[in-house]
Amino acid sequence: MAKAVVIFGSTTGNTEMLADSVEKGIKEAGVEVAKKSASDISAQEMKDYDLILLGCSTWGDGELQDDFVDFYEKMKDVNLEGKKAAVFGPGDSSYDQFCKAVDLLENRLKEHGSQIVTESFKIDGDVDSKLADAEAWAKNIASSL
Ligand SMILES: Cc1cc2nc3c(=O)[nH]c(=O)nc-3n(C[C@H](O)[C@H](O)[C@H](O)COP(=O)(O)O)c2cc1C
Repeated sequence: MAKAVVIFGSTTGNTEMLADSVEKGIKEAGVEVAKKSASDISAQEMKDYDLILLGCSTWGDGELQDDFVDFYEKMKDVNLEGKKAAVFGPGDSSYDQFCKAVDLLENRLKEHGSQIVTESFKIDGDVDSKLADAEAWAKNIASSL
């Protein structure tokens, strides 16, 4: 049976809320899923899963959320060939680097061999109104496993 992991980094809780919805969507598709903070899982552990969904907010001037900084570095040592992946995250388009963390993670996943299965899901501003969309986005991905 296919297994998915949702790895998130969240400072004020927005990405974690999205991660909860993403987890729900995957379960609805009948796929086993684990949800972990990027500070509680090693990059190597991604290899235990068939589908990897990364959720990260953007801070500073286009930087990764703190919990993803070390994880992102360690991703350099992981071969992700054969792994399906997609990225989501909230941001704010009033900043120059809108959702840059999502792009950074997506590029790193690609560089290390994973197959990006769908366009990233970026949320501009309020997250509450987008939780159902996040759930549907994830359900759709997991349904095609
Ligand atoms: C100091 C600060 C810097 C930010 N920088 C960016 C940025 O460069 N790009 C962006 O899209 N959003 C930026 N944001 C918006 C956050 O990504 C957004 O508030 C997000 O929902 C936070 O999610 P979290 O609670 O999961 O960490 C910034 C917010 C703050 C307060």
